[in-house]
Amino acid sequence: MVSPSALLACPPTEASAPRLPRQADQRELQAGLLDRPAHIDPKFLYDALGSSLFSAITQLPEYYPTRCEAEIFERHGADIARHAGTAQTLVDLGAGDCAKAERLFPALRPRHYVPVDISADYLQAAVRRLRLSYPELRITPLGQDFSQSLSLPADIPEAGRLFFYPGSSIGNLDPDGALAMLERIRALCPDGGLLVGVDLVKSSAILEPAYDDALHLTAAFNLNLLRHVNAVLDADFDVDDWRHVALFDRRRSRIEMHLEARRNVRVAWPEGERLFAAGERIHTENSYKFTPQAFTALLERAGFASVRHWSDSRGWFSVFGARA
Ligand code: AVJ
Repeated sequence: MVSPSALLACPPTEASAPRLPRQADQRELQAGLLDRPAHIDPKFLYDALGSSLFSAITQLPEYYPTRCEAEIFERHGADIARHAGTAQTLVDLGAGDCAKAERLFPALRPRHYVPVDISADYLQAAVRRLRLSYPELRITPLGQDFSQSLSLPADIPEAGRLFFYPGSSIGNLDPDGALAMLERIRALCPDGGLLVGVDLVKSSAILEPAYDDALHLTAAFNLNLLRHVNAVLDADFDVDDWRHVALFDRRRSRIEMHLEARRNVRVAWPEGERLFAAGERIHTENSYKFTPQAFTALLERAGFASVRHWSDSRGWFSVFGARA
């Protein structure tokens, strides 16, 4: 992980600037590759191609979360907006192509839109399109890795902030990390609120195909991480040496994604190397699934009140609304 001092040296940036010094990414990647078992943070899934692949995944029949969440906003949008109150500033965490927030503009009527995303290039392109459609809306894109710390530029007023954290991205964090993230959001919204999308616990027969689809787009998404690591670390991963694995761990209530070596593999980069035995895995992502009770408790522990949730017709996914 990135050291706190490295983050202090790197204030939030406009989307055009690099989000973190390359060196910090390299140190983090090297440490994860040398660990036993090896791991790579899921934020490295999202280079430009990774973001496009994820966008394609959301259109797969097996990947239900995006459609469920859209259904929730369609059916309950007015109620959700009433509970959220009027947002002066809509802060969109992990905005991607900004499409989800855009669909809420009519109901929430924000004056100021602050999309935050680690993939600065992808965000910049989305914001260019958005500015043409909404000339009145003030837009401040932030190319920021908010996985460790979250800060907003001083010219974004504190009053009336509504944080939008859709798509069950919070599921990438382990329970302590999720609590810390919610506390960070709470600290930045003295009088505002939060809308957060959360995937619910359900049968493995539904969960596992969502992360191991018939077209193998999720496999490509996971494997593309190795190409990204090659680019950042100057490593020599051969994608053909690796296999995508996704499984639901019911005890931990999470989907795990791994990359499994198909044969004995040696991976080298300028400052090190690692030998992987056939069958050895690199852990690349967790996606936690919650019960409504557990997530309500988490929001309350983080200091939020007036917690409500809305679910899709099948009860697979929920959007939670909470007030500071
Ligand atoms: C973007 C973190 C919500 O966990 O479902 C999709 C990422 N990984 N398929 C998720 C993902 C594999 C996704 N999140």
